[in-house]
Amino acid sequence: MTADAATRTAAALSIGDRQIELPIVHGSDGDDAIDIGSLRAETGLITLDPGYGNTGACSSAITYLDGEAGVLRYRGYPIEQLAEHSSFLEVAYLLIWGDLPSQSQLDHFVAEVTHHTLIREEMRHFFDSFPADAHPMAVLASGTVGMSTFYPDSQNIFDADAVEVTINRLIAKLPTLAAWSFKKAVGQPYVYPRNDLGYSSNLLHMMFAVPSEDYRVDPTVAEALDLLLILHADHEQNASTSTVRLVGSTHANLYASISAGISALWGPLHGGANEAVIETLEGIVADGGNVQKWVDKAKDPNDTFRLAGFGHRVYKNFDPRAKIIRSAAERVLAATGADDRLFEIAQQLEDVALRDEYFISRKLYPNVDFYSGLIYRAIGFPTNMFTNSFAIGRLPGWIAQWREMMGSKESRLGRPRQVYVGPGARDYVTIEQR
Ligand code: SDX
Repeated sequence: MTADAATRTAAALSIGDRQIELPIVHGSDGDDAIDIGSLRAETGLITLDPGYGNTGACSSAITYLDGEAGVLRYRGYPIEQLAEHSSFLEVAYLLIWGDLPSQSQLDHFVAEVTHHTLIREEMRHFFDSFPADAHPMAVLASGTVGMSTFYPDSQNIFDADAVEVTINRLIAKLPTLAAWSFKKAVGQPYVYPRNDLGYSSNLLHMMFAVPSEDYRVDPTVAEALDLLLILHADHEQNASTSTVRLVGSTHANLYASISAGISALWGPLHGGANEAVIETLEGIVADGGNVQKWVDKAKDPNDTFRLAGFGHRVYKNFDPRAKIIRSAAERVLAATGADDRLFEIAQQLEDVALRDEYFISRKLYPNVDFYSGLIYRAIGFPTNMFTNSFAIGRLPGWIAQWREMMGSKESRLGRPRQVYVGPGARDYVTIEQR
């Protein structure tokens, strides 16, 4: 940023013979913004920006990313350092409460989460109301908002203690909801969480243990899952986070706001891409491994097929998370001895695409979803559970963003305007006259 841009305090806007000045808001890093809060009152005009590619919805101190440089930081800490040194619950604490916890703070948070992992026993019957092939994201979204019916204190969204216990309950119970939706799908007994297991180990235990034999969590697998959860924990104002903020701005409770975020994440352009990547890789294998053919298909303007796991609204460089996940995938595949045919195809796909002018000119690189599915698959997650795992990872980010919004002086009910392009006023026509 030039020195002038860094010190500029206002932008001049000329409309006809009028000129107005709009204040410039400077961030501590990254984008500065023109504050258009007075635009309509001063000019009668609004702005139009479908997909909000040029529009900041809020100020935030939680996550910073630089799409051109491929930088991602949670509360200022680089994702590479958190991936190497931290744990998912420590990162969750950092995102939600603003800084790395002391040992006693972390111990208290872990104990709180550990002792809230059970879901109400009545909810066992909740799963029975779904077909065995119900998509786990439908079960997770409805189960999340359904949980609020057991906790009326969650409606007290301005009571700090009620919010804190709601936060701990959500972080603790989402893995149980997710694992039980999987057990329902495979027709196995529900496995209860255990207080002697760590967060990721507990999820693996609830997913894969059966009453008829002991189940030992593979530490390499638990570590890889914890790393994936860290890498998914927040990503500033992405579609699902913006959904959580918008729903929260109506003063809906946190369970309802998170449930809305889960539904937004489900889409294949967003969190559902990890599922679509595996389907693409399996399609290429079934089609004889002709990677170039599928790259050409992704480039074809007349074909709606897009290369899942490639491209990003903000990253115009390698997604830093994709780099970390790619090396973790190699470790997990080696440790589990899982079939790495898809990993080979993924690497070939990356090589071909990154040398192709279409992808280079559009700055399309592998994103967080490109390799993550290979790890989930090696761990034993069915493809339709990948986005559930993304949701468990993203939960602390959603919570942190909801809390920041609820505590911010600038926050108000989210209500965008529009440019109307429909018919002018006209009189009702009776059916006989139509
Ligand atoms: C996540 O926002 C976040 O932070 C999200 C996320 C998070 O942590 O929360 O990072 C997680 O959602 C990652 C993204 C996962 N989605 C996918 O992998 C789906 C495949 N990717 C694309 O659909 C696309 O890249 C988007 C949706 C991710 C971003 O699309 P944009 O920013 O709206 O850009 P665009 O669709 O306008 O694409 C620009 C051009 C177009 O071609 P032209 O019209 O210029 O000819 O690039 C092309 C697109 O057709 N393009 C692709 C492509 N992605 C973009 N072409 C082929 N394959 C792709 N994957």
